[in-house]
Amino acid sequence: MASYRTLNSQLIVADYARSYPEIVRGEGVYLYDSEGRRYLDAAGCTAAVTHIGHGDARVAEALAAQAKTLAVHPTHLFHSPLVEAYFERLCAFAPDGFSRAWTISGGTEAIENSLKLAYQYHRAKGRPKRTRFVGRWDSYHGNSVTALDVGGMVGRRSFYTALMPSQHLHLRSCQPYRRPAGQSEQAYEDELVTELADLVEAHPDEIAAFVAEPLVGSALGAVGPTPAYFERIAEICRAHDILIIADEVMTGFGRTGRNFGCEHFGTHADVLACAKGISGGYLPLGALLVRDEVAEVLRDSGDPFFSGQTYACIPLAAAVGLAVLDRIEGDGLVDNAREVGGYLKAQLSTLLEHPHVGDVRGEGLFLGIEFVADKTTKAPLDPDWRFSKRVEAAALHHGLVTLGARGTVDHVLGDHMLFAPPLILTTAQADELVAGLSASIDDALAACQA
Ligand SMILES: Cc1ncc(COP(=O)(O)O)c(C=O)c1O
Repeated sequence: MASYRTLNSQLIVADYARSYPEIVRGEGVYLYDSEGRRYLDAAGCTAAVTHIGHGDARVAEALAAQAKTLAVHPTHLFHSPLVEAYFERLCAFAPDGFSRAWTISGGTEAIENSLKLAYQYHRAKGRPKRTRFVGRWDSYHGNSVTALDVGGMVGRRSFYTALMPSQHLHLRSCQPYRRPAGQSEQAYEDELVTELADLVEAHPDEIAAFVAEPLVGSALGAVGPTPAYFERIAEICRAHDILIIADEVMTGFGRTGRNFGCEHFGTHADVLACAKGISGGYLPLGALLVRDEVAEVLRDSGDPFFSGQTYACIPLAAAVGLAVLDRIEGDGLVDNAREVGGYLKAQLSTLLEHPHVGDVRGEGLFLGIEFVADKTTKAPLDPDWRFSKRVEAAALHHGLVTLGARGTVDHVLGDHMLFAPPLILTTAQADELVAGLSASIDDALAACQA
């Protein structure tokens, strides 16, 4: 049994009351603590980051070699052929029509820069009043004040609402499993699409962009939309020249079994905001990929992109990003995510026999389960059980790193888990994950009922 130490350091930690095992290394899909205990990384760390697994020598070597050669460069005076080569490669990996890239240090910055780019697009078209963004409740887009504001994860944003100008707009999330009892998926979709149409009508010439995760990650546990949802949302956006920003921070770079999550739903996006898997965790990295028509408007305006950060577009990031793409493309990891992801989903679906596992969802190796008290009414579990967090804790004892989350139903009630293991997962490791999870659910339930 691993020893669990209460932290006694100068770090600011999330939970002072908890104790944590000491992590010392990772290799492939496994993490190891200081006592040599092994944990299968079923969450992809926190979360959905470790696409190529831990301890990848080729990426580590690329990082070290570039750090020795040139880590950063004076971007105001030079251009870097390495960065240019990386951007070309990124655009080739993106869906057709994406011809411009920009890198920064992570997902929050990718979203912030996407919002700024959308605003600049409208300014360039002579529409300075397009200053509002439409996000969706139950979505997370990052941790800056604006990203929290545009996002709709109440648990994370409520502490900061006093800092928000509150001018941004929100739609209900699209959760097919949680649609009102008795309502068809079609009627549910109609209602959500009408909600956007009404919002646009109520705010003529004010909305710059619509922002959404193709499949909602941490807030809901890999929830995808109803079949024509994004296509119909896009029709409204196109009709009013509202840009569509796909938050691909979790769903990008092969996670869902396609290069980008939005490709499952017709690729209606104008901007892809990326991070996490883009570097597999080997370097803090994010990117914007921009559709040609949008980039052209900015180019024709004669202005530069009004954004600049120390770590934007640096050679070190390009070297790591290229090495990670070599792994993803060269080793067929997108196909593996689709194939092993399909297997894992089928195995997770066997847990539906458990009285409290209500739903299994997701694409590729981006999967979630939702717990319920009653499968017919879909009533959530007693919040005092903190069930998903108990499963997460039990799973650690079964050698699994998982991510449990709460608030699935109404920001407070509801429990789910998100699974996003490295894309190198094998079917044997998928079996190991499901066996450990099944035992963890049993342990958590026994503890709640004791
Ligand atoms: C969908 C989504 N968008 C944005 C972010 C923010 O990314 P970062 O934590 O790299 O700033 C996250 C982080 O989890 C995310 O899941």
